[in-house]
Amino acid sequence: MTEESTTPAIVLEKVSKRFGRKVVLDELDLTVAKGESLVVLGKSGTGKSVLLKHLIGLLEPDSGKVLIDGEDLWSLSEEERGKRRRKFGMSFQEGALFDSMTVGENIAFPLQRHTKMSKDEVAARVAECLDLVKLPGAESKKTSELSGGMRRRVGFARAIALTPQILLFDEPTTGLDPITTDVITKLILAMRDKLNPTAVTITHDLKVAFTIADRVALLRDGRIVMDLPPKEFEAVDDPHVKAFVAGDSSFEDPEETTLR
Ligand SMILES: Nc1ncnc2c1ncn2[C@@H]1O[C@H](COP(=O)(O)OP(=O)(O)O)[C@@H](O)[C@H]1O
Ligand SMILES: [Mg+2]
Repeated sequence: MTEESTTPAIVLEKVSKRFGRKVVLDELDLTVAKGESLVVLGKSGTGKSVLLKHLIGLLEPDSGKVLIDGEDLWSLSEEERGKRRRKFGMSFQEGALFDSMTVGENIAFPLQRHTKMSKDEVAARVAECLDLVKLPGAESKKTSELSGGMRRRVGFARAIALTPQILLFDEPTTGLDPITTDVITKLILAMRDKLNPTAVTITHDLKVAFTIADRVALLRDGRIVMDLPPKEFEAVDDPHVKAFVAGDSSFEDPEETTLR
């Protein structure tokens, strides 16, 4: 294999991040190979969203390195780092759509901003993305008319509009009913099949994790304390992992949940 194809998509080297006195990431190491799907589990407030924001360069580590395709994000100029951000498609918690825009306008937004595509090309790409998330013809819908599941799907469509190499999903099914969760899970699988991206997904849902992951990692005390293929992860003899696998709700710290 060439060096290019063996360079991991994502490497975090001893990444530390604190807010005030609270250490959120503590010399965290993580590698994600190209095309791999990693799922990160961890209780609320452990720093899962903070971790994702480091991958995409929205947060700067206090120390340590973030390498994307072998490039140290924070040794680049701000402009160059901004360009690297286009390698990513991120679906934020709750979808984060622009409510003043239609569905079509939401998806067209990154295309208009970052490409020189003509109006027709944009329209065609928007239609393609809506097809992929199983919402064909939804362009003119208002985002306020959408159900929770549909909002996530439109968020996905916007995230993939620029054909990113790396997809980040922050709690894609949190707050959805089981049937919609299933639809979204299948959609993530379909997007993987079609786009073959590197993917990092954060979820609380074990079923979702084991369905979409090549590797499952557990974030605790600022570090990845477990990092295994789904089958092995499920079988691990560790109280924290078992609490997750058993769906132990007492594992959630109610005080920290409000901080999410
Ligand atoms: N921009 C910020 N400023 C200060 N504290 C933050 C910021 N972002 C996150 N935090 C804190 O970092 C911790 C981890 O947050 P987060 O990554 O959102 O947790 P989660 O694992 O639930 O996604 C929390 O205590 C949160 O309050
Ligand atoms: Mg979060």
